[in-house]
Amino acid sequence: MALVLDGNRVRDQIKSELQPRIAALAAKGRRPGLAVLLVGHNPASEIYVRGKVKACQDLGIRSETLTPPATIPTDELLAMIAELNARPEVDGILVQLPLPPEVDSRRILGAVDPEKDVDGFHPCNVGRLVAGLPGPRPCTPAGILELLKRHGIPIAGRRAVVVGRSDIVGKPMALLLLHQHATVTICHSKTPDLPAVCREADILVAAIGRAAMLTADYLKPGATVIDVGMNRVDDREEASRVFRDMPEKLASFDQRGSVLVGDVDPRAMREIASAYTPVPGGVGPLTIAMLLANTVASAERRALLC
Ligand code: GUN
Repeated sequence: MALVLDGNRVRDQIKSELQPRIAALAAKGRRPGLAVLLVGHNPASEIYVRGKVKACQDLGIRSETLTPPATIPTDELLAMIAELNARPEVDGILVQLPLPPEVDSRRILGAVDPEKDVDGFHPCNVGRLVAGLPGPRPCTPAGILELLKRHGIPIAGRRAVVVGRSDIVGKPMALLLLHQHATVTICHSKTPDLPAVCREADILVAAIGRAAMLTADYLKPGATVIDVGMNRVDDREEASRVFRDMPEKLASFDQRGSVLVGDVDPRAMREIASAYTPVPGGVGPLTIAMLLANTVASAERRALLC
């Protein structure tokens, strides 16, 4: 029986470890504060941001969400960020991605004060990650590392394959695993014979955004499989192919008209892996937990500075 890596349980552990740290800051009049910039209307981003704001509320972190329209000129967005950079009660600034195509994402991410960059996306913090220096780490890969560590899954000396080379997940994930002494391969759409490369993985991280793309022939027996995918499938035929032996998932599809599917075939994962993250309930909850952790760490650092 494969071990299910329970993201909800690890999220709850991380949140309860943060509670006394937040209380200590609040006692000094330094309750942590997070500002979220959500530009335009992207339904998935709106759901993610609601989850982030709710998690802040649960823990007593102040949060505010700024929601300019997609048509806002880049200069005006830069002015909003400059104001957040200057406000002392804002410890963390999160620019929800993706930004609308007409916004210059690089300029926006580069404008966030690196000391308040709770996503670790500012070029300074990317450099810190590459160099192995302390700094905020991107939330999803940092959460995956917590999940592996807290389940006692060894990393040093093992073969890790990361499928997907995004700045948000794939690249930072590969670096974090490398710093833990894994032998790391990053794959992408141009990698020849992807199944053969994936089959070398003791730890396989799938972050490609294609429903159930990694099937049984991508998995090495006994591998640990981390599925970052959150793909909404609204085609019943596709859903019944993916969940051919999971009637409860199909019942949920019939009720809602869609179902969430990871990047890995769930049946293959259950039958071949020794440990895996379910979708939902695996990686997703950890992204938010690490955002909270980065916000608290930023507030602690800033409280020490004055
Ligand atoms: N969009 C998808 N994942 C993330 C994330 O971790 N941070 C931000 N800011 N945007 C995202």
